[in-house]
Amino acid sequence: CGIVGYIGKRDAAPLLLEGLQRLEYRGYDSAGVAVAGKSGALRTVKAKGRVRELDDRLPKRFTGTTGIAHTRWATHGAPSDENAHPHLDAEGQVALVHNGIIDNAADLRAKLVADGVEFASETDSEVVAHLIGRSSADTLEAKVREALAVVEGTYGIAVLHAAFPDRIVVARNGSPVVLGIGENEMFVASDVAALVRHTNQVVTLDDGEMATLKAGEYRTYTTEGSRTSAAPTTIEWAAESYDMAGHDTYMHKEICEQPDAVDRVLRGRIDDRFATVHLGGLGIDAREARGVRRVKILGCGSAYHAGQIGAQMIEELARIPADAEPASEFRYRNPVVDPDTLYIAVSQSGETYDTLAAVQELKRKGARVLGVVNVVGSAIARETDGGVYVHAGPEVCVVSTKCFTNTAVAFALLALHLGRVRDLSVADGRRIIEGLRRLPEQIAEILNGEDEIKRLAARYADAKSMMFVGRVRGYPVAREASLKLKEVSYVHAEAYPASELKHGPLALIEPEVPSVAIIPDDELLEKNRATLEEIKARSGRILAVGHRVHEIADDTVVVPRNEPELDPILLGVPLQLLAYHAALALGRDIDKPRNLAKSVTVE
Ligand code: G6P
Repeated sequence: CGIVGYIGKRDAAPLLLEGLQRLEYRGYDSAGVAVAGKSGALRTVKAKGRVRELDDRLPKRFTGTTGIAHTRWATHGAPSDENAHPHLDAEGQVALVHNGIIDNAADLRAKLVADGVEFASETDSEVVAHLIGRSSADTLEAKVREALAVVEGTYGIAVLHAAFPDRIVVARNGSPVVLGIGENEMFVASDVAALVRHTNQVVTLDDGEMATLKAGEYRTYTTEGSRTSAAPTTIEWAAESYDMAGHDTYMHKEICEQPDAVDRVLRGRIDDRFATVHLGGLGIDAREARGVRRVKILGCGSAYHAGQIGAQMIEELARIPADAEPASEFRYRNPVVDPDTLYIAVSQSGETYDTLAAVQELKRKGARVLGVVNVVGSAIARETDGGVYVHAGPEVCVVSTKCFTNTAVAFALLALHLGRVRDLSVADGRRIIEGLRRLPEQIAEILNGEDEIKRLAARYADAKSMMFVGRVRGYPVAREASLKLKEVSYVHAEAYPASELKHGPLALIEPEVPSVAIIPDDELLEKNRATLEEIKARSGRILAVGHRVHEIADDTVVVPRNEPELDPILLGVPLQLLAYHAALALGRDIDKPRNLAKSVTVE
C-alpha cells in the first residue's frame, strides 16, 4: 500500500493525488485523502477503485496546505469506500493512514466497542485512529506514542490532527516511511517514487522511529521519545527514470530497458586481470568465502525464481551446494541455522515483509546474511551484512522483468566471485566474463524479435491453460515464465521440471493446453527432446524456446547462445514478451494486474 503526506505552503490535494498516482503500483483497490483546512478542520474523501476515481470525487474546493493520502491493497476488509484510508476517530479530529497489519486489532476493537466506540470500517487500521483520538496526552506526538504502546504488529503511519494543524506525525515499525525534505515544505511517503519529483533529499525512518514534520522543519525520535540523528541522504534515481518514456506501459518500457540495465549491473565490477569480479559491498574476504559450505537463498515471487537461477550458478561455478526457498516457508519451518552456510536474501524492493522477517530470524540466530537487492538503502539492504546491488533502476510495473534479469546477472557475478576464490579456473573465469559481456547485445537481439513473439502470443493467448517445462537450468526459467503469464494475462499456467511431466501432469495435455518448452543446446538436449516427443504423442502443441529450430515443435523462438551457465538469463527474455503480448491481446491492465501489489509489506 502507499502513503503520501504534504505540509507546506502549496495546496496539498493535487500534490497528494500526484504522489498517489506514483505509488499506485503498490496497491490500487481503493484510495483516499484528508486535508486540514485553515481552521484545522479535517476533510476527507475516499473511494473504492483507482486514484483516478478518487480524483473524480474531490470537490472543487478541497483546499488546505497539510494533508495525507493513501492507496490500498486490501488485507483486512474488502475494498470499499469505508475501508479505504484515511480513517478517522469518533470525533473526526484524527485522520490516519496506515500500511502494515495490526495483529491485536480484534482485541483492541472489542475493548473500544465495549467502551461505546462506533467503527466506520472493518479495517485493523481504524483502531489506531480511535486510540489516538481517545488519548488525553497534550501533544500529538504523545498521543501517537500512547496509542502505539498498545498496538502489536507492523505499521507505517501518518497522522493529522485537527487540533495540531501545523504538523504531521509519522511512525514506522516494519513498513517503510521516507521523509522528503523540501524548502519550507516537507513530504512523507512509503516509497521514494512519490518524492522524486519534489526533492532528492530523503530521510528513511528505522523501525521504532517516529518523526514530526512541520512546513519548515522536521525531527526524528524513537517511540520512547529520544532524538535520533536524521541527516538526509540523496536519492540516486533520477525523476525521469520513473517516466514511461514513450512506451504504453511500464512493463514494456522495463523489458526494453534490459540491455542498459544489464550493462549497469556489470559496470565497474569485472576484473580482467584475475578473471574475476569485484563486489565492493559484499563484506566477506576471500578466506571467509572459501569457508562457505552451503548457500541458502531466500526470496518471494520472481525474486525467489531469480534465486533459483542463482543457486544453480553458484553450485555450477563455485561447486558449493546451494538452493533457494520461499522466504516465508523458510522462516516458519524453524530452520536449522548453520554457521558455515551463507544466507542470501533476494528482493527487488528490499521491503517484502516475508523476506525481511526471514532475514531478521536469521540474524537473531547469528547467521551471516547477504542481500541481493535493487532499492539502495531499503530495509533488507540495511539489515543484511553486505550484498550486491542489482542496479536495475526503478521498476514500476507490478510484475518484475528487468529486475529479475538483473538479479540473475548479479548472481552470476557472485557465483563467479565465489568460484574464483575456490576452484574455478582462470580459463573458465574468462569464459564467463566474456559471456557476461555479450549479454546486453544478445538481449537487444532478442528484443528485436518482438514482432514475431507478438504474433505467437496472439496464437497462444486463448489457451485454456499452459504448461511450462524445463530441465535443470531451464526449470527456474519455466517457473518464472509461468508466473509472469499468470500474473499479467490471468491465463492459468503451471511449471514443471521436464522429467516430472510423465509423473502426472501429462494427464492435462490436450490441444487446448499448449506447452512452452525451455530447451537450450546443453548437455541435456537429448533428454529434453524426449520430453517434446512425450507431449507431441498426446497431441499437445509446443512452443519451444532454445538455440535452434526444433522440427517437432509447432513454433520455436530461437535465442542467441551464450555460455551454458548463463543461458537461463537469455532464455527468460522472450517469455517476458510472450506474457506481455498475451496480456495485451486479452486487454489486461498490464502494469497493475488485479489483486496484486508490487511490494507486499505485510505477512
Ligand atoms: C510481490 C510482487 C512480485 C514480486 C514479489 C517479491 O508479490 O507482486 O512480483 O516478485 O512481491 O518482491 P521483491 O520486492 O521482494 O522482489
